[in-house]
Amino acid sequence: MDFIKIALAKGRLAGDSLEMLKKIGIEFKEYSKKSRKLIFINNEEKIKLVFVKSTDIPIYVEKGAVDIGIVGKDILMENRADVYEILNLNIGKCKLCIAALKEYQSSRNRKLIVGTKYPNIAKNYFHRKKILSEVIKLNGSVELAPILGLSDVIVDIVETGKTLYENGLIVLEEMYSLSARLVVNKASLKTKGNKIEKIIMRLEEVIKENKDENS
Ligand code: PRP
Repeated sequence: MDFIKIALAKGRLAGDSLEMLKKIGIEFKEYSKKSRKLIFINNEEKIKLVFVKSTDIPIYVEKGAVDIGIVGKDILMENRADVYEILNLNIGKCKLCIAALKEYQSSRNRKLIVGTKYPNIAKNYFHRKKILSEVIKLNGSVELAPILGLSDVIVDIVETGKTLYENGLIVLEEMYSLSARLVVNKASLKTKGNKIEKIIMRLEEVIKENKDENS
């Protein structure tokens, strides 16, 4: 029988995602945070877990290299892909925000320079708001951009707010509330439908349980 391939990103979402999979009986005994292995196999459930860079998950799912992906809504908004977005897993909750140095004074008279890992989202957002902007694509440690004078503001995710605080930045505006989503390859939902639907149903129960626990 065919294996179901699930892509996760290493990093902060991995722990919560693995916890959810464990709750529906999908465990990877060999997995440890420290391991550099990229593929883990559960032979009983016939599931392969692969670790993919978060920004690459949409394309892996779209092309059918994996059947299922767990990925942040921010990544899906930035890297549009032809996949089914099936579930809001309600984990990895954070906000996409515009932030700047505490001292920053906005001026409508000149172009706003924006540093971000999310150029598409930022361009669309400022375009819709009719704010003239120049977006500079960065790949990480975005908070440095206003500190070093590369940009006026940043567009970035804020989870605890610790990174902003420790670098002297504040939130100017909350743009979007985000969380992790379960995405599925369109063909896989037909060819491996039974098994994938079972996973979806079991995850739906866990989402509900988690909500009940938190309410
Ligand atoms: C993200 C984001 C912020 C930080 C926010 O970066 O870009 O820098 O987390 O989290 P906080 O509000 O809990 O402090 P990430 O850790 O993914 O690293 P990166 O900057 O290298 O992309």
